[in-house]
Amino acid sequence: MDRIRIVGGQRLSGTIPISGAKNATLPLMIASLLTEETLTLDNVPRLADVVLLQRILGNHGVDIMVSGKRSGMTADHGQTLHISAANIVDTTAPYELVSKMRASFWVIAPLVARMGQARVSMPGGCAIGTRPVDLLIMAIERLGAKIDIDGGYVVAQAPKGLKGAEIAFPKVTVGGTHTAMMAATLADGTTVIENAAREPEIADVADCLNKMGARISGAGTSRIVVEGVAKLNGARHAVLPDRIETGTYAMAVAMAGGDIFLQNARPELLQAALDVLVETGATVAPTNRGIRVARNGAGLAPVDVTTAPFPAFPTDLQAQLMALMTRAHGTSRITETVFENRFMHVQELARLGARIQLEGERATIEGVERLKGAQVMATDLRASVSLVIAALAAEGETIVNRVYHLDRGFERLEEKLARCGAAIERLSG
Ligand code: EPU
Repeated sequence: MDRIRIVGGQRLSGTIPISGAKNATLPLMIASLLTEETLTLDNVPRLADVVLLQRILGNHGVDIMVSGKRSGMTADHGQTLHISAANIVDTTAPYELVSKMRASFWVIAPLVARMGQARVSMPGGCAIGTRPVDLLIMAIERLGAKIDIDGGYVVAQAPKGLKGAEIAFPKVTVGGTHTAMMAATLADGTTVIENAAREPEIADVADCLNKMGARISGAGTSRIVVEGVAKLNGARHAVLPDRIETGTYAMAVAMAGGDIFLQNARPELLQAALDVLVETGATVAPTNRGIRVARNGAGLAPVDVTTAPFPAFPTDLQAQLMALMTRAHGTSRITETVFENRFMHVQELARLGARIQLEGERATIEGVERLKGAQVMATDLRASVSLVIAALAAEGETIVNRVYHLDRGFERLEEKLARCGAAIERLSG
């Protein structure tokens, strides 16, 4: 298993290109199941989760072609996927595949909407909490599908097609909103989704679906209206930039010191996080081509932050902010309200010398003068990258084990940081 070796203490300077968003790419790829025509996606990041979803879709009979290199293109440009679900040969998503990636459960929506049936394994538990799918099932059921649970599988049936309905989510859910929106595109009549998630990835998927002929309005607000159509067509869509990757590198430079340009980053996708960075003492300067982030000399000020659905501070940046606050001058508080158990990074940060106390959903971080390198490992993607951030400012060598978590969601992380002066390398095997 690969590991990453970091020697802390180097400032960062230069440009980091921001990739396409993982959490938009995955539902966009799944949306290809809604049409027999080809969906072409540009700016797709090279990530382990994308490869895994290619396999999962392949099992349903989807053909995916990855465009070869084009002149003038470098690894900094995303890939282009041509996805064709002309013939869906299997409407079952098996446990072996769904259990590896929770978002693959979302295939239930396009499968039942287009094929009238789907049999999808329940995703099971996960390192960041129980993460149920009850609200996703509720949404499909509201649209008229008959649901049975059989041997760990959710079996959805709608032989005569889905029917538009009102779906009011009791809790904001990104996956629930994607599921409801995708399924409703092919339903008969109008669907209104209340208390919808407002994450930018929802609006990006809605944009693409509209290019495919769907009639969706209000995506990006908490009320989405979908007028069902009989058929969707192919389209071409470029994935929006990854706001979590953006925030992660912004925190990395705040931690290590230096001056970085985050190319292609869009400030409006992570304003709450940028505001917090400014509060810590970092300089944040948006331009029309990206965001410049710098911290020179001065220490970090502590903050009090609560995660919540967009547009609030994202749970997917909580671990990274906590890493940053381990070196603040004073005591910070971070409250996690989205997932009940997303603190797996705390004990690993402690191995580097961080002082963090946990009490229910709240972490209290007492800033320390210095961190010291150690062997660490983490059990989820964002927790792993928080260890990289801490290591950039830790004295001596840190080895981050189980790098495959990082590869699920960060494209060429070590290369992007090394190019900016970080002492970071991948150790194979
Ligand atoms: N929830 C339920 N019932 C459901 C669905 C969700 O109770 O049926 C709860 C969850 O347990 C959680 C809350 O609702 O407490 C929000 O979960 P949500 O459904 O919004 O999360 P998700 O769709 O499973 C996506 C991202 C996550 C990100 C969350 C929150 C993708 C592929 N995943 O997950 O990303 O943390 O939204 O923004 O888009 C990551 O990228 O590392 C990651 C975990």
